[in-house]
Amino acid sequence: MSEPSASLFSFCACRTARWFAPFFATTFGVTTYGNQGYTTVSARPDRFGWAGRQPARRPDLHLVATPGRKSHGIAGSVRKYAGARVEEMVGCGPTEDDRSYDKVADLYDAAYVDITVREREWAWVLGRVEARRRELGRPLRVVEVGCGNGALLRALDDRGHLASGVGLDASAGMVARARERSEGRERLVFDRIDGPRIDQPDDVADVVLSQPCSLTDLGVQVSTGRVVDFRSRHALSAVEQPDAVPLVYPGNLRDGSVLWPREIRKPQWFRPSDDKDRGMLLPEGWYAVVKRFSAKEERRRIVASVWSPADNPGEVAFENHLVAQRGVGDDEGHGERAVLARVLETGQELIV
Ligand SMILES: C[S@@+](CC[C@H](N)C(=O)[O-])C[C@H]1O[C@@H](n2cnc3c(N)ncnc32)[C@H](O)[C@@H]1O
Repeated sequence: MSEPSASLFSFCACRTARWFAPFFATTFGVTTYGNQGYTTVSARPDRFGWAGRQPARRPDLHLVATPGRKSHGIAGSVRKYAGARVEEMVGCGPTEDDRSYDKVADLYDAAYVDITVREREWAWVLGRVEARRRELGRPLRVVEVGCGNGALLRALDDRGHLASGVGLDASAGMVARARERSEGRERLVFDRIDGPRIDQPDDVADVVLSQPCSLTDLGVQVSTGRVVDFRSRHALSAVEQPDAVPLVYPGNLRDGSVLWPREIRKPQWFRPSDDKDRGMLLPEGWYAVVKRFSAKEERRRIVASVWSPADNPGEVAFENHLVAQRGVGDDEGHGERAVLARVLETGQELIV
């Protein structure tokens, strides 16, 4: 990498090297620079130098990254004011990573044959499609961007809601699955798109769908594990006890499953002793569990794991570094399928 000062694309702000600079580099095919840590104003460019009580009066201030209280606690603060060296900006080039769905197209297709198992999403879309159809008094022309294997368009077609359905997707593998599964459906066409331009005439759609809703729209509740272990020491146990329920930690998540109990140095049973403790338990059910997002994980994929009541019937408690989403309807395997679908989606999609 050449000197940061030579680059037009230096982003001097807190933690830009962790997400914005790489994103910008990949999106625009350029080299960028960002700061890995927190930034601060300094009187010197090479080491932290306090800018005094009236920094605005100084002609030559520098925005630099150094250890500090926010990043390294009190020890960082001491190092900073002792004149810590400025951290080099980190260079980022465009990545060639294949981030498309191509390599998971088969797996995705197998999990998403029937879109109606994602009950809330399906209800959300269907409600809006039906309302629009009533408004126009005829079947709709729908364009779906990011159509995957076309499950949604087929489900709408099956119910007679479509005059035409155009499914567009960035992944050639997904488009191939969509075409295969939709053979013989004259109202549906699928194509690849690359970039923001949609190669369709202006007046082609009554409705455009594209991963349209937030978790709140869907009525999906995601809750952080309620057990903060150092506040609940009285209820923790390293061995099984009467009335104790599983307590799941991040260390229990492995390759998409929850391995409980497992050889980790944590007390993996929670034995409630009063109503406050009992309020930390969650009912028996299927859960998609992910580690709570933290600064350290910002550049990694978030992988979700399945907690199964088939393996561990009864209530369960999740430690506070986990986020759990309860599956819907656990009779006839629906809960399992919905949760697996959510896990797959989370694993492939959430890159923070
Ligand atoms: C999680 S799947 C959703 C498929 C479908 N909408 C559904 O709900 O079942 C996301 C799809 O969006 C596609 N996708 C992601 N980014 C895209 C982009 N920028 N343009 C078009 N498609 C994109 C992926 O290839 C993938 O097939």
